[in-house]
Order: sequence, then C-alpha cells, then structure tokens
Amino acid sequence: MSKRKQILSCIQPTGDMHFGNYFGAVKNWVDLQAEYDCIYGVVDYHAMTMPYQPKKLRANTWELLINLMAVGIKPEYLFVQSLIPEHTELCWIFNCFCSYGQLTRMTQFKDKSSQTPKDGEQFISAGLLDYPVLHAADILIYRADYVPVGKDQEQHLEMSRNIAQRFNFQMGKEFFKLPESLYTETPKIMSTADPSRKMSKSAGEKHYINVFGDEARIRKQIKSAVTDTGESKEGEMSAGVTNLFELLKACGETEAHQSLMEDYHSGNLKYSDLKGVVGEALVGLSNGFKEHKKALLADKKNVKSQIKASSAEIRKIAQATMKEVKELTGLFNVKF
Ligand code: AMP
Ligand code: TRP
Repeated sequence: MSKRKQILSCIQPTGDMHFGNYFGAVKNWVDLQAEYDCIYGVVDYHAMTMPYQPKKLRANTWELLINLMAVGIKPEYLFVQSLIPEHTELCWIFNCFCSYGQLTRMTQFKDKSSQTPKDGEQFISAGLLDYPVLHAADILIYRADYVPVGKDQEQHLEMSRNIAQRFNFQMGKEFFKLPESLYTETPKIMSTADPSRKMSKSAGEKHYINVFGDEARIRKQIKSAVTDTGESKEGEMSAGVTNLFELLKACGETEAHQSLMEDYHSGNLKYSDLKGVVGEALVGLSNGFKEHKKALLADKKNVKSQIKASSAEIRKIAQATMKEVKELTGLFNVKF
C-alpha cells in the first residue's frame, strides 16, 4: 500500500476569512485533500504573540474552525493547537536547537516588534521572538513532507529546516524530515478599494471582502471597486481590472473570464458588466458556504465533539514523535 505524502499547514485565528486568504491559501488546502493526507491546524498559541483578548481568541478559534469546515475542509483533518500540548513541549526542546541571533534576524520579528502601538506602551513579547520555533514544532512533529504556504512564509520554512538539521546532526540520526514548501497556483488578491495593496484584514474593513459577509455588501464592494487609478501605462491593464479578472478566474468562471477578456482586448468591455459578473460569482460562492455554515451552526454540539475527536486522533501522532524525541534527547520518558 502506498502511503500518501503528508501535508501540514496552519492558520492563525485572527479575524474574518476574506477572499484574499481564501483564494490565496484555504481553497488550496481544500483541493489538496484529494491527493494527500492532510493536517490543518488553527494555531491559537501563535495568536497570543501579539496583544489580544482572551474571549475574542476563543471565539475566533471556533469561528475559524467552523468557517474552514464550511468551505470544505474535512473535520477529521482539523486540530486546535492548544489541544495538543506536545507542540509547546517540542517548541521548548527546539529552543535549545535554535540560536537567539537567528530569531532576532527574522523579518516577521523585525516588522512586528517595530510596529508602534496605537495606545499604551510598546510591549514586545518573548513569544513573538519565539514564534518561528513553535512554527517549526507544528510542522516537524507530524513529519510533514509538504507545507502549502504563501511566499511570505518561506523564512519560517527555512527556519524549520535549520532546526531539523541541527537536531538531526546533534543526535547523529536523520530523525526529522526536512519539510518542503508547496507553492501551488495561488493568486495574490488585491484590495478592491486600493488595488496597489493586498487584500487584508489589517488595512481596515474596506480593504477586504468577507467570505461570509452580507450579500449586499459583497456586491457593493465589487461595484465600487477601483478600476482606473490613472497610473497604468498606455495599453496596459490597470491593477484594479486585473484584480477583478483574477477574482473571476479564482471563482472558476473560466468561460465568463474568457469572453470578458475578449471584450477587453477588442475595446468593448464595460467595467460595469465585469463587476456584475464578478459580484455574482463571489455571492454565489459565498451563499453556498453560508448555507453549509448555517447547517454546521445548527449542530454546534456535534461540530465541537468532532473537533475534539479529530484533535485527539491527530495528537496521537504528536505523542509518538515526542516519545522518540525524549528518548533521543536524554529526557525522562516514563508514563505515570
Ligand atoms: P492571513 O490571513 O494574513 O493570516 O494569511 C493566511 C494565509 O493566506 C497566508 O498563507 C497568506 O499568504 C494568505 N493570504 C492572505 N492574504 C492574501 C491575499 N490577499 N492574497 C493571497 N493570499 C493571501
Ligand atoms: N505563520 C503562519 C501564518 O501566519 C501560521 C502558521 C503557524 C503555520 N504554524 C504554521 C503555517 C505551520 C504553516 C505551518 O500564516
């Protein structure tokens, strides 16, 4: 029997799912399920590395789990990071196989630790510095072959490989697999309000379109999408129009994409037509997801027990790895 390759990826519970991270990451996770063994985590420990509110964190974690299921992630592939304490246990061990200097040089640490807070004093947690080590533990504990992530995560992947190599070298054993990133065809979706920046939560409400948002609002956001900023060169498609076509393609509307593209090239495209089609495509997708979400919410108890059960099942893999790690590293390894 040929064992399928192991996929692992995680996402932070830090707010709404929007069409940027849906088309850029989550849709890809859904598609990979057909070909690989997959494990997908909602990483709540990571979400504590920046200032946060405890109640919101728990609510966001549940919301994201339900949203992931609603868009097609199989519940048996999902886990909550804080339900698997072996992640943080391995993180501690990895702290001793990773240099402080390398952590201070990580781009994300430099960016986030230099962000000035809107209110209060600046507080840079040690957790923020240690973020990549926990990230490495998430991946290596499952001996993942491939990690589907955006290009912005490449440095974290590199760090995971460095830690695995140092560990393997010091233990004199090829124990951890070196994980590879998996870049599939993931479009970079731009903000419809400002197509020069990527669609994201951090830029503010008008810069992202909520996958589970109100139908009228989705239509309105597309209707008011910026098309011509006057910056594009003669004969070149503007960033805003490119983004609308990109969204249409991402929705799987290939025929409409093709015929509207022909209109564009022959100079007959009406932006209002393009916006109408894109708006309908997004609303169509969103409505299907919302319906699924409604059904999941109607049976919340069942969803909760499914997540607990899948986390417990996935935890067994983490526990087996930890047992071997403790053996190798000279730690106590007895069952009470
Ligand atoms: P975030 O929502 O920023 O936590 O990102 C979660 C994942 O979605 C990461 O792998 C990002 O690379 C990806 N992502 C987020 N925003 C976009 C976007 N506008 N276009 C494409 N991918 C995105
Ligand atoms: N850093 C990732 C992000 O912000 C989230 C993450 C945490 C992750 N642990 C991971 C991604 C392990 C892939 C594998 O999107």
